[in-house]
Amino acid sequence: MASLWGGRFEKDMDELVKKYNASIFFDQRMYNEDIDGSIAHVTMLGKQGIVTEAERDQIIAGLEGIRKDISDGSIVFTVEDEDIHMGIESRLIARIGDVGKKLHTARSRNDQCQVDGRLYLKKEIREILNSLCCLESVILEKAEKYADQITVGFTHLQHAQPITIGFVFMAYFQMFKRDIQRLMDTLERMDCNPLGSCALAGTTMPIDRHLTSQLLGFAAPCENAMDGVSDRDYSLEFLSDASISMMHLSRWAEEFAWWNSSEFSYIAIDDSFCTGSSIMPQKKNPDMAELIRGKVGRVYGDLMQLLTVMKGTPLAYNKDFQEDKESLFDAIDTWKATIDIFAKMLDKTEFRMDRIEQQLSRGFLNATDIAEHFAKQGIPFREAHAIVGRMVKACENKNCDFRDLTEEDLQSIDSRVTKESLGDISIKACVDARMSFGGTAPAEVRRQIAVGKAWLDSLACQ
Ligand code: ARG
Repeated sequence: MASLWGGRFEKDMDELVKKYNASIFFDQRMYNEDIDGSIAHVTMLGKQGIVTEAERDQIIAGLEGIRKDISDGSIVFTVEDEDIHMGIESRLIARIGDVGKKLHTARSRNDQCQVDGRLYLKKEIREILNSLCCLESVILEKAEKYADQITVGFTHLQHAQPITIGFVFMAYFQMFKRDIQRLMDTLERMDCNPLGSCALAGTTMPIDRHLTSQLLGFAAPCENAMDGVSDRDYSLEFLSDASISMMHLSRWAEEFAWWNSSEFSYIAIDDSFCTGSSIMPQKKNPDMAELIRGKVGRVYGDLMQLLTVMKGTPLAYNKDFQEDKESLFDAIDTWKATIDIFAKMLDKTEFRMDRIEQQLSRGFLNATDIAEHFAKQGIPFREAHAIVGRMVKACENKNCDFRDLTEEDLQSIDSRVTKESLGDISIKACVDARMSFGGTAPAEVRRQIAVGKAWLDSLACQ
């Protein structure tokens, strides 16, 4: 197949160069967007009188035929196609003859690859937003179910304070909420149409970039042609959104792995999300949680790859930019699959309250509550903190709990402290009393759930 750009060349491309230069093996995934872009372009050329209506119709029919043949597998691209833009255009010319050669009037592959990229990413972002919304609704359901169930809250991986499981769920809800908002911001900022930027400087042809923007569902044409063909920050934004969200997923996956460990056994991950060992018959490993934790590495790598490609590239288009696609596609696939699998795993996970309850009496989880109790009785908090610290020490020496300290023990720690002054220090009373805004009390968690639900409903995800 003769190249579409061969006019000034005397020699054919070296075979190694053909392979190295080709992007067809990865950019063909944008064939639908490439055809949509071409149809909008030729529709505009027709409206502007640059091609006749009959030519426009012939070109559109040819493109739709190619779309069908690609989707049913009767067109198989090869290295000779170089990229999806030329793969489709050369087939159009072969199919409808010379009229097909008019399609490339007032455009360039430089703007074309950006139209495809932006359309494709917009579509994928909408799907990822839907997946994140599904994850959020699973979280809300579970938060509701476990709104009253108490577990151990950790800092430094040490027992810290009692919290509700619903509260933990709502903490993650907030992280994914910000992930959704970040992605929506990215979608809004990237919503401009580069078509008609041409190679870098626009065109002398009387095109209408507002019309193609409208036809393709972009908010507006990109304001500056040179920026339109050279900007990849929308991909970088997407990759950083993906990296941050994958980091959130990997943090929760890590908690899943240790909640599921023999030492904790706070949860039992469903069999369908675990794998066995080829040698140890008893093993049931939390492989999905570990893989999620691991896959974040790829996505960080994708972000670093494109940041590095873009660094120091002069205006306008450079072939380096062709390297913007594989990492983007990899991040899209990885992030989407990870959200979906995590949501499903979460949905099927139940907490083992019997195991968790055994841990609630360990680690003096109510120590801060006692200090706050003393502070309410007028003891300055710093002193209250020191008193409870001495109570912990006394308990450790006697190998007992706060409740087991005698009146004498308490008096020797501080004359203001009596058994009576400790008040209700049951774990449940402590949790119920943490009613400060954003706190862990079941009633407060239910308020957070209601706010979260209203926000999610307002997004109208599918
Ligand atoms: N395959 C190319 C890419 O993805 C298309 C643009 C080529 N433009 C050019 N001037 N060589 O970046």
